[in-house]
Amino acid sequence: MTQRSWTRRQFIRTGTGVAATAAATKFTLLQPRPLWASPQGVAASDRVRFAFIGTGVRGCELLDATLRVPGVECVAVCDLYDSRHIAAQEAVKKNVPATRNYKEILDRKDVDAVFVATADHQHRRVFIDACAAGKDVYCEKPMSHTVEDGFAMIDAAQKANRIVQIGSQRVSSILYAHAKEIYNSGKLGDVYCIEAYWDRNSPSGAWVYPIPPDASEQTIDWNAFLNGASKRPFSPERFFRWRCFTDYGSGLAGDLFVHLISGIHFITGTNTVARRAQSTGGLFHFKDGREFPDLIETFYDYPNFRVYLRCNLNNDQGEFICFYGTKGTLIIKGSHLTYTPQDTTPQPESYSIFGWPAKLRNEYLEKFQADHPLPGALNTKVEEETEVFGVPKDYSDVVDHQANFFNAVRSRKKTVENEEFGNNAALGCHLANYSYFKETAAMWDPAGKKIKG
Ligand SMILES: NC(=O)c1ccc[n+]([C@@H]2O[C@H](COP(=O)([O-])OP(=O)(O)OC[C@H]3O[C@@H](n4cnc5c(N)ncnc54)[C@H](O)[C@@H]3O)[C@@H](O)[C@H]2O)c1
Repeated sequence: MTQRSWTRRQFIRTGTGVAATAAATKFTLLQPRPLWASPQGVAASDRVRFAFIGTGVRGCELLDATLRVPGVECVAVCDLYDSRHIAAQEAVKKNVPATRNYKEILDRKDVDAVFVATADHQHRRVFIDACAAGKDVYCEKPMSHTVEDGFAMIDAAQKANRIVQIGSQRVSSILYAHAKEIYNSGKLGDVYCIEAYWDRNSPSGAWVYPIPPDASEQTIDWNAFLNGASKRPFSPERFFRWRCFTDYGSGLAGDLFVHLISGIHFITGTNTVARRAQSTGGLFHFKDGREFPDLIETFYDYPNFRVYLRCNLNNDQGEFICFYGTKGTLIIKGSHLTYTPQDTTPQPESYSIFGWPAKLRNEYLEKFQADHPLPGALNTKVEEETEVFGVPKDYSDVVDHQANFFNAVRSRKKTVENEEFGNNAALGCHLANYSYFKETAAMWDPAGKKIKG
């Protein structure tokens, strides 16, 4: 090996003769909060009675999760499609009353809180009506379908003094709480660059959901679904695959960016909107009449860092968030978090000095060594310990998120993912879509509460 091909570490090791490195990986299983791991009793007076509005795929998933939260009871469900009444009753394992008309639920005095798990374009109307009826609201992400929706929803919640939580459950995850601890500890140094993606490669991942055989205008209230969107004849494709269409959904940004943005905002303690977003992408594979791209990439400018997000429906890389710091790197991938420190002990410059005569190079190295005396003999080992953290197999951040909501309903203390947090995350999605469709940078105007091109 010639000196030129030495790595920095080999160079200093040989140069100083004493420094040594050790690399290791330590694995820690994070412990769930006791709330749902070992359900404690909840006084009957503290029991929260809730109802569901929208019991499709997500509604049923959420209903199932409520069975693991102590001290809560589902008393009614609502959906525009009759078969979903049955699906909801099966999910909650109880024959609760079911209706197509959510106003019947809001009129009930014994309902403390509602879950809104409708398609995105219905969030605003149901949320505002629920707040006005005095119900606390757990509203699925993305909170809003348009910029104006979000601010109207904030006004409604605050005017009626309601507890609100938006449904990006990673904000309540023990994995994300640990990532936030590492971020706040300073172990990452300064973080100027954050990268996150969520890639999936299947028809289901691209929302090509099958149409149930009993779907018809008799079993579905199509006009109620449209809710002010352009009038059209009954379309089961639009009803079941609403995410593909701008009238009802928010594309990959609203479906998946919103989780990444919420996670990044939570970990970094950001509660604002990016100043600027610039998107690119395209519709390459799923050319089935959809209006949103199957690949979107967006760069965001935040005051203290920059963020790159991507969703690609043509590759299966999964979900990933990475914080690149000056002292370390933190990666969340699936159910694991990895922290890798960087060795930041001073090193002599070891590239350009090989273009110097040996005499000058040696003088430089001697001076460097004199200026940076080595630590004592027992402290010469440079520890480079990668730490990996995981969650138990049956851990559910959805259950933790619900528990946080129900606790807030009891304590009347605002949730972390409250209406302002949810609105800021949703605005990030609207910026991405605006930039993609208008083919321009999207600038956020905080005073005017609007996006400018
Ligand atoms: N947090 C998450 O990880 C997560 C996961 C999936 C979906 N979501 C969100 O949940 C929401 C629902 O998604 P989904 O996949 O369950 O969609 P879905 O189409 O399966 O279900 C939505 C249901 O809402 C019903 N609905 C619409 N308007 C209604 C109204 N006015 N009154 C009563 N019911 C109404 C429809 O009939 C439909 O059955 C979306 O906002 C989505 O973004 C969140």
